[in-house]
Amino acid sequence: MPLYKKLFLFTGRRVIGFVLAGIALGISLFAVELAFAFSLQAFLLCLNIALPSSAALPDWAKNWPTSGVLGFILVVGFARALLNWAVIYTQGAAGEEFRFLQRTRILRWAFHSESVSSWEVMTLFEPRVGGGMAAVSAVHGLTVQLTCALMILWALFWISPVLTMAVLAVMALVFAPVRSIDKKIVEAATGQTQALGYTNHRLMMSLRNLLLIQIYGTQSLEERHTRESLADYRHHALRLFKVTGLKYAIPQFVGMFLICVLTLAANRHAHLSPVLLVTYFYLIVRMLGAVTGLNITISGIASSWPEASRLYEWWEKRSFDGPAAAGKRELVLAPRRGDAKPVGWRLDAVTFTYPDGGRPVLQDLSLSVHPGQVLAITGPSGSGKSTLLNVLLGGLVPERGQVEALLPGGLSLPLEAFRPELLPLIGYVGPESFMLEGTIRENLIYGLQRAPAQAEIESALAKAECAFVEDLAGGLSYRLTEQGQGLSAGQKQRLALARALLRQPKVIILDEATSNLDSDTEERLVDTLSRLKGEMTIVAATHRKALLRIADHRISLQ
Ligand SMILES: Nc1ncnc2c1ncn2[C@@H]1O[C@H](COP(=O)(O)OP(=O)(O)OP(=O)(O)O)[C@@H](O)[C@H]1O
Ligand SMILES: [Mg+2]
Repeated sequence: MPLYKKLFLFTGRRVIGFVLAGIALGISLFAVELAFAFSLQAFLLCLNIALPSSAALPDWAKNWPTSGVLGFILVVGFARALLNWAVIYTQGAAGEEFRFLQRTRILRWAFHSESVSSWEVMTLFEPRVGGGMAAVSAVHGLTVQLTCALMILWALFWISPVLTMAVLAVMALVFAPVRSIDKKIVEAATGQTQALGYTNHRLMMSLRNLLLIQIYGTQSLEERHTRESLADYRHHALRLFKVTGLKYAIPQFVGMFLICVLTLAANRHAHLSPVLLVTYFYLIVRMLGAVTGLNITISGIASSWPEASRLYEWWEKRSFDGPAAAGKRELVLAPRRGDAKPVGWRLDAVTFTYPDGGRPVLQDLSLSVHPGQVLAITGPSGSGKSTLLNVLLGGLVPERGQVEALLPGGLSLPLEAFRPELLPLIGYVGPESFMLEGTIRENLIYGLQRAPAQAEIESALAKAECAFVEDLAGGLSYRLTEQGQGLSAGQKQRLALARALLRQPKVIILDEATSNLDSDTEERLVDTLSRLKGEMTIVAATHRKALLRIADHRISLQ
């Protein structure tokens, strides 16, 4: 696909629409400036400062009454105000539409990909998208100003080709220094991006591990590292201000210089009447204004380029290549049938390797677990227990071998086809308890399609050994803060199990779900699970012995 098409897809139709509106706005701004520049001549005639013969105006305009001229200038001023409003609005809208589109893409990717790091998502969400947005707004500004500047240049040529050539020559002289300033801007902005990335990363890591840092006594070390990268950021930021400031200054100086030189030249060589010279100068000032704007927007593009191009690289790699790279297809879960039955699995010579993983995590693995049975998966850390669970859930698809779901009555189906019906049957407790800010009740009914009766909640809590809930102030209304703070790790695991049981699951998947429990509580839980056996299939990845005693099958990964 050609680059322009890719860019079009990346940016989105609405954003392109707003950017192209910039051309129309640039032409309209030019028309307004031109009208004002010539109405200045009529105004000078009204004030008797100039003779009608010296004005470059049609006869009807030379005889305009003062009130007519002032009225016209008023209308022009109003049109100009309106156009400026439209420029500001469309510029903001182009950036915002871009931000919304990209953030929507990032969200989709984050929730539908196999593995993403929260750090990567947050970096894309803020600095990358922010940079892209700034670049889009700058491109919009560029469209407006470039159109306006080129149109004014054309008008200047029309009034006096000689003087305008001189103007262009002076502008060409400053082109080289301006280009070198642009390079410095890109350098400073890249340094800024890197320093910001490092600061955020280090700070986030430190805050997540504050306890460890306090125990190891490395607070000052962490503080120093973060401060150093902050200082690095400041250094680049100050450099950026310095060089962008220069870009503001150059056109101002060139403008003054041009006006002095041109007045001389106009008198000696171009033979323009003073009235026309006023129009010419007004247009020059306006063009320089647009060129200054252009300069600044080019700096804006240059400084946001590093972030914007990283965002583009991400999009090109993840999403442009098609659905496989963009993440998995949207999973449409089938509504659960009332008479749902437990489900088992048959794996035949399954081999699975992570895309960037090198060696296979699972190799030629075969196993079968019938509906209602208990499968225990053991093995050292990193041996592939969680990976196997994910294969059983259809979240990971092996590159070789077959995975089938076993249904009661000896029926079997390829897992991929059965997955939408399988997931609503599953109660899952993972190694990290997923607890939200909210009440215990809200946490328990998370993801549930119905409102369970109080008795049902109490029964699930009892089965999951959650008697501690009664002792909390407010019981089920007790509020957890961020990440479930306010409960112990074992209490959170038990709540997660109660949540899983409330789904009335036909399969329970436990990934190190009892790792934080004392052995008495764990034994009691295993007793409960053994009573549920038959009614549901239980698959548990565990380092601990307790669950092994109720297992029908045991598989040890190496
Ligand atoms: N998303 C991933 N991308 C690449 N490699 C991965 C990914 N997830 C896990 N791995 C690798 O696959 C191997 C198995 O990981 P897995 O999480 O299945 O182990 P585990 O047996 O569950 O370990 P633990 O007992 O510590 O939870 C490890 O070597 C791990 O580094
Ligand atoms: Mg694991």
